[in-house]
Amino acid sequence: MTLIEKFYPVMKPWLFRLDAERAHTLTVKMMVIAHRLGMLKTVVTTPQQPRIVMGLTFPNVLGLAAGMDKSASAVDAWGALGFGFVEVGTLTPRPQPGNPKPRLFRLPEHEALINRMGFNNPGIHSAVKKLQHRRTKAVVGVNIGKNFDTPNEDAVNDYLHCLKAAYPVADYIAVNISSPNTKGLRDLQAEGAVRQLIAELKKEQAALKMEHGKTVPLLVKIAPDLNDMQVEALARVFNEQHIDGVIATNTTIDRDAVTGHALAQETGGLSGAPVRERSNLVLQAFRMLLQDQIPLIGVGGILNGADALEKMKLGAALVQVYSGLVYRGPGLAREILGQVK
Ligand SMILES: Cc1cc2nc3c(=O)[nH]c(=O)nc-3n(C[C@H](O)[C@H](O)[C@H](O)COP(=O)(O)O)c2cc1C
Repeated sequence: MTLIEKFYPVMKPWLFRLDAERAHTLTVKMMVIAHRLGMLKTVVTTPQQPRIVMGLTFPNVLGLAAGMDKSASAVDAWGALGFGFVEVGTLTPRPQPGNPKPRLFRLPEHEALINRMGFNNPGIHSAVKKLQHRRTKAVVGVNIGKNFDTPNEDAVNDYLHCLKAAYPVADYIAVNISSPNTKGLRDLQAEGAVRQLIAELKKEQAALKMEHGKTVPLLVKIAPDLNDMQVEALARVFNEQHIDGVIATNTTIDRDAVTGHALAQETGGLSGAPVRERSNLVLQAFRMLLQDQIPLIGVGGILNGADALEKMKLGAALVQVYSGLVYRGPGLAREILGQVK
């Protein structure tokens, strides 16, 4: 067991006594310092088979989901810890503070979180600068969104802005149209809106490919709260437009799994164990409907190795974690990569 794995069970009760967002900010800062001091050892001890997905070589199948490192301030540390890929963001064209605090809540009885952060981030250009100096071998995805005050009619310009800025430094770009915490964002998942958005982004991707001499895959991150018709419509657009990959899923606005909990009615997206089943259904449906060459990244409710394996069995080429890391600590990476090689 590495030092960081031994350290986490000692730190966890202390961190859990702090406000959830403060604990998060502190953890990321401590990770950066530990890495600078050379104290961060990979928790991945089993030999890993790199995977080639979307033309990129992933050192292993485990990724850090978007939202944990919104500002791209700790990518080298996450890589050192053993993650095969790190998705930074969501980043918007202009910096923005996000929603008023408190905006992140723990539901430990359910191994769940509710957040309504609202894309607090330092802006795409700040993240791009940081990523220029990265040293990690982990694949780095840049997750992009729109500013809260950009109307949906102009959303495409925000995504185009971020795509152009991130293209030179990103290994892949994830288009986030599924956060429940930016008013109207999920409406961009409607068939007409998504078709127009992806068409514009794909056109720009082709131009940027010529300009930079490299292909940066374009993925879309979707919500778990989609009915069958919405899933079919989205899959149709993704197939038509040759999207490079799909990330399933973001957090849920559904509260059925946590009914009766004192915090259940907090506005925001629910993540962790309660989103697993819904995420898996959506993942499975997309795997059936998408052309074989479009890979899926499975995310939502992975709390142990078996959960990760299940997503791979349902058709995920790669997986990501967020809430599981809060509840299980860095040992989760070792457990997952011990089982999914
Ligand atoms: C506090 C918090 C902030 C998040 N921020 C983002 C974000 O900015 N962009 C995004 O695409 N997903 C964001 N997510 C969603 C996660 O990336 C992930 O899709 C979701 O939490 C489900 O995975 P999990 O059950 O492993 O947490 C956030 C999740 C949490 C808990």
